[in-house]
Amino acid sequence: MSALFEPITLREVTIPNRVWMPPMCQYSAEPEGPLAGVPHDWHLAHYGARATGGTGLIIVEATAVSPEGRISPYDLGLWNDTQVEAFRRITRFLTAQGVVPAIQLAHGGRKASTDQPWRGGAPVGPEAHGWQPVAPSAVSFDERHPVPTELTVDQIQEIVGQFADAARRALAAGFDVAEVHGAHGYLINEFLSPYSNQRTDAYGGSYENRTRFALEVVDAVRAVWPEEKPVFFRISATDWLQDGGWTADDTVRFARDLHAHGVDLLDVSTGGNVSGATIPTGPGYQVPFAARVKAETPLPVAAVGLITEAEQAAKILANGEADAVLLGRELLRNPSWARHAARELGGEVNVPDQYHRSV
Ligand SMILES: Cc1cc2nc3c(=O)[nH]c(=O)nc-3n(C[C@H](O)[C@H](O)[C@H](O)COP(=O)(O)O)c2cc1C
Repeated sequence: MSALFEPITLREVTIPNRVWMPPMCQYSAEPEGPLAGVPHDWHLAHYGARATGGTGLIIVEATAVSPEGRISPYDLGLWNDTQVEAFRRITRFLTAQGVVPAIQLAHGGRKASTDQPWRGGAPVGPEAHGWQPVAPSAVSFDERHPVPTELTVDQIQEIVGQFADAARRALAAGFDVAEVHGAHGYLINEFLSPYSNQRTDAYGGSYENRTRFALEVVDAVRAVWPEEKPVFFRISATDWLQDGGWTADDTVRFARDLHAHGVDLLDVSTGGNVSGATIPTGPGYQVPFAARVKAETPLPVAAVGLITEAEQAAKILANGEADAVLLGRELLRNPSWARHAARELGGEVNVPDQYHRSV
């Protein structure tokens, strides 16, 4: 039987299989008012479908630690108790299906305040529920985006605190795993990469300084997240620049640091920090980055990016390239992918009693 259908235990949390759902923004919350950032029927149905489909772990979409940290005004958030209550409904359902509920905690940095992608995804200002974005340096992502406000050290510390508060709320909401969003050109990624971080203080310049904010966030989250529950970190393993930027070598070095700071798994993505970078996409194109971290560090890894076929996913695990696979768009197309893969490869995943006649 493929390892795809074997459980994995991280700290004291056992995940029933290795077919996982990565965070995918739904851009569907209210942009303002008492229901801002609050999950509702759509989110329950969306995550619920993947849960009844046999997925082992579901990482709820990028959830902002503050209103200004939202990628779009329609993002979910964890900055108040109304949000905690609403998330409980989702974690309760996922847990009842035997799925481990995880959540990605995020701050959008200089790429915050954009419209829903199906409306073009352009940066928006106050006239469309938007705001002025912040970043390590006053450098815009591209000509469409505004120049962000450079964060002061006090403001950086405040955001570290917001990550801790959001993690505390995620725990109260019933999540078993907290994932820190350090990828795709959002705030933490912006600090890591010399391409977007041009600071000359303790948060910029050397590798140690550029990784300081990320590690402070990890420490703050780890401090409030129970010993027995895992913390994940999502990274963009490369900026995909020919020369300079954040590189795969940096990722390997940083993975060792993350491990030393109590991170339990690296979710290995790439890109998003450099507008117009050439990315050679294709089936499993990011897997080699995960495989390198797995081979060269003690940190378990999950691979993501154009993994769509059962055989392909099984091979990634059999080759020892990753400990789990994440399927994004394929799970949007087929919420029961894990069940189909189990039938194809001769394995088993959780099937709700209500669906027993379809096993
Ligand atoms: C609609 C959509 C929303 C996404 N939102 C997020 C997000 O909230 N956080 C994140 O780290 N990645 C996000 N991603 C990236 C996915 O997690 C995943 O890494 C990417 O889609 C590549 O995997 P795939 O080829 O299996 O789709 C999103 C992708 C899609 C398609």
